[in-house]
Amino acid sequence: MSLRNTYTSYGWLAKGFHWVVFLGFVALYGIGFYMGTLPVGPDLFAKIGLHKSIGIIVLALAVFRLVWRFINPSPDLPEGMKWYERLGAHGVHIALYGAMLIMPISGWAMSNAANFPVSVFGWFTLPNMIEPSKAAVENLKAFHGTMAWVVLGVIVLHVAAALKHHFINKDNVFSRMMPFSKEDA
Ligand code: HEM
Repeated sequence: MSLRNTYTSYGWLAKGFHWVVFLGFVALYGIGFYMGTLPVGPDLFAKIGLHKSIGIIVLALAVFRLVWRFINPSPDLPEGMKWYERLGAHGVHIALYGAMLIMPISGWAMSNAANFPVSVFGWFTLPNMIEPSKAAVENLKAFHGTMAWVVLGVIVLHVAAALKHHFINKDNVFSRMMPFSKEDA
């Protein structure tokens, strides 16, 4: 498998970014929803700490992934796709890249607004982004919470499109993002 993408398939670095970020999102949603069921106490604070640490790792990966995306373009979409399908695919990908940046950054700002530091697994602490403010906490909480559902909707669309390519269109769009696919160079 080559490092770089080709015209027909993703290279191992793009696939690695895709599936590690996917695992990050699974963990963030899992822990995020679980946090909502916990009473205020040490267990909740531990889970919030974990959620924040994973979120910042996803943010860092998203930055590297975007840089890699610019210097190593993605494979072409299949020729037969209609213009609105292409527009939809690109729009959803842009929205997902936006989500990888906006979700962690809004969480980081929310934490600082509530006067909590953002530490990544206790290895280091990020600088404070904004001054403590009750109003900012409320606004950022509403934004982060609403966007979590919007992004989940976009992910569902993305997965549905990937499955449609595989089972209905029967093209290689799904398999070329899979580890060890037969499209690998
Ligand atoms: C079960 C879950 C998922 C499946 C089956 C899946 C599948 C795929 C496939 C097949 C592609 C390649 C599309 C193409 O060849 O043009 C792709 C691309 C992409 N996926 Fe996913 N995906 C999943 C989850 C996610 C998640 C959670 C995110 C981010 C939050 C994500 C973000 C992206 C992005 C940004 C691209 C575009 C890559 C590029 O720049 O070309 N995916 N996905």
